[in-house]
Amino acid sequence: MATFIRRMPISYTLLLLFLSSDIGFLLGVSSFGINYGQVADNLPPPAKVVELLTSLKLTKARIYDTNPQVLSAFANSNIELIVTVENEILNQLDDPEQALQWVNTHIKPFLPDTKITGIQVGNEVFTDDDITLIQYLVPAVTNIHNAISQLGISTNILVTSPSSLAVLESSYPPSNGSFKGEIADIMTQFLSFLSTTKSPFWINAYPFFAYKDDPSEIPLEYALFNPNPGMVDPVTNLHYDNMLYAMVDAVVFAISKMGFDGIEVKVSETGWPSKGDEDESGASVENAASYNGNLVRRQMEKESTPLRPKMALEVYLFALFNEDLKPGPTSERNYGLYEPDGRIALLPKLDPLHVGVSADFNPMWKSNIIRP
Ligand SMILES: *[C@@H]1O[C@H](CO)[C@@H](O)[C@H](O)[C@H]1NC(C)=O
Repeated sequence: MATFIRRMPISYTLLLLFLSSDIGFLLGVSSFGINYGQVADNLPPPAKVVELLTSLKLTKARIYDTNPQVLSAFANSNIELIVTVENEILNQLDDPEQALQWVNTHIKPFLPDTKITGIQVGNEVFTDDDITLIQYLVPAVTNIHNAISQLGISTNILVTSPSSLAVLESSYPPSNGSFKGEIADIMTQFLSFLSTTKSPFWINAYPFFAYKDDPSEIPLEYALFNPNPGMVDPVTNLHYDNMLYAMVDAVVFAISKMGFDGIEVKVSETGWPSKGDEDESGASVENAASYNGNLVRRQMEKESTPLRPKMALEVYLFALFNEDLKPGPTSERNYGLYEPDGRIALLPKLDPLHVGVSADFNPMWKSNIIRP
């Protein structure tokens, strides 16, 4: 069956806002990156994607594997790349020799032309359906780290593993943040690894999920970073005007309750879908444009969370493209800024006056198509 994605008409105002602010300028913000997910059968070739990212002045991207075609395409670009060890092979990395071989095959040949700056060992391992995975996490990060040290390529490559927010028992208020008791042992070992290697804790944090689960309780404007009264954490007296920062600070508290300080928390994924099923409250082009636009604006202002006021929060937006082969509810296939053919799926809503930047019109938008 042929699938036609019926696109929402782009309102003139939104278009005008967009054209006059051009997300192209946004980027080049050093704390901001994008997730280049590829669970799709219709994406443009990697070289075209590098062109797109370059035109957006993006300097950071993250992929979910070590696809050699993608790694080669990023060679000699200005884009730093974080790559991922797939969950399926974590168990093999239990063996230091295999870890060394993995790095030798999948990472080393692409250096230094491809700027690989991070290796994420597994994805959301703590909360994976396969509960046997978690036992391999710490051996795998340790062995990968030792392998890159042994090969003399560890200077610019951080090794870590992103977690979903479901690792938390509680995230409200942020000062009450704590990890689930059942993962405490392995979390302690993992945090100890991060602390020793000075690597960040990456969290995938989606205010959309919280809103979708409880739309009558969660103020939409708070979830979207729109103007709203926000909340005050009664323990710290810190004021939060958006849910993402509250989630991040809850993770900071959870880590510190395990006895670790000084581990930086970064957001490996966040985003908002432009489309969802009927029971997925809040999924819309308008909300996605607001969330992404507000996030980008705050990134340009190099904002930090209330708890770590001096540390600009690093964020990777999810995602570059809509991904047609993702399973699950409709929202899962509709987080992209772009349709696979390069048409814009959603326009981050940016107010150029507020942003204080007048940017060029980017010709890539004129055609709106990346030709494969
Ligand atoms: C703090 O978290 C615990 C669970 O760890 C929860 O039972 C409690 O209600 C939370 N406190 C507040 C004020 O929400």
